[in-house]
Amino acid sequence: GKVAVLLGGTSAERDISLMSGQGVLQALRARGVDAHAFDPATQELGALRQQGFARCFIALHGRHGEDGTVQGALELLGIPYTGSGVLASSVAMDKTMTKRLWRADGLPTPDWRQVASADETVQALQTLGAPMIVKPAREGSTIGLTKVHLPHECAAAYALAARYDPEVLCEQFIAGDETTCAVLGTGAQARALPLIRILAPGGNYDYQHKYFTDDTQYLCPCGLPEAEEHALQELALAAYRSLGCRGWARADIMVREGDRMPFLLEINTSPGMTGHSLVPMAARAAGLSYEDLCLALLATATL
Ligand code: DAL
Ligand code: MG
Repeated sequence: GKVAVLLGGTSAERDISLMSGQGVLQALRARGVDAHAFDPATQELGALRQQGFARCFIALHGRHGEDGTVQGALELLGIPYTGSGVLASSVAMDKTMTKRLWRADGLPTPDWRQVASADETVQALQTLGAPMIVKPAREGSTIGLTKVHLPHECAAAYALAARYDPEVLCEQFIAGDETTCAVLGTGAQARALPLIRILAPGGNYDYQHKYFTDDTQYLCPCGLPEAEEHALQELALAAYRSLGCRGWARADIMVREGDRMPFLLEINTSPGMTGHSLVPMAARAAGLSYEDLCLALLATATL
């Protein structure tokens, strides 16, 4: 039947989603799927049913796309969709809630404080120590994120993050290896793809370096000892299961220099599928082309 690729949407990651969605759309069409673009920013989700769509591939990022709201609407419409369900999507979008669940399950994540003002951000810096990351609790692609070193930097950092989300999170910065691990499949079938190690210039893997420049280096195979890669893959799987994720996701993990302690930063339940994105890179390393990956993800669409 007809497949809708949901793309665009209204979040700050709209432009990224348009790139992800176009990639997915072309790949599915190349494999003979009757796929059509559908942008919830301009079309009512209810039209999906009127137009006879049998399944949705969600290529939306950020709020009103990756956060359980669209998933809930599709549940009500009775249209199967890719990726996590309402609860896991919603929890994973909120970095504070995610960290609380991981802590409760004994999974490592950097210390944090939720803050509601510039003053509380200064207090958080005193408690957590410098450097510290200040970011919106429910955003992606490093939008609204600042690394602060000194108290006088806190007000601007808080204001920037609060522009994107009233919920602002301060998190201890972990210096070390930036890694990411994709997970495919659900329940007992879930498996981790090869780990990717990211070497961004100056350690700044920000919006520009994520999507627009070519000076970020991606190592896949990651070059870490096999046992370490395996342990990080197991950690990504544990993080995925802890939130009850489904279909696919990508866990971002920092490995602290020195003691090599891993720390989970977040899990993305609708990861980027752009030409620069990481899940397609890991899939390729596992022998799965971009087209194969899209087809495999579509096959996991469920209610
Ligand atoms: N939030 C972006 C799309 C990612 O995690 O890939
Ligand atoms: Mg993210």
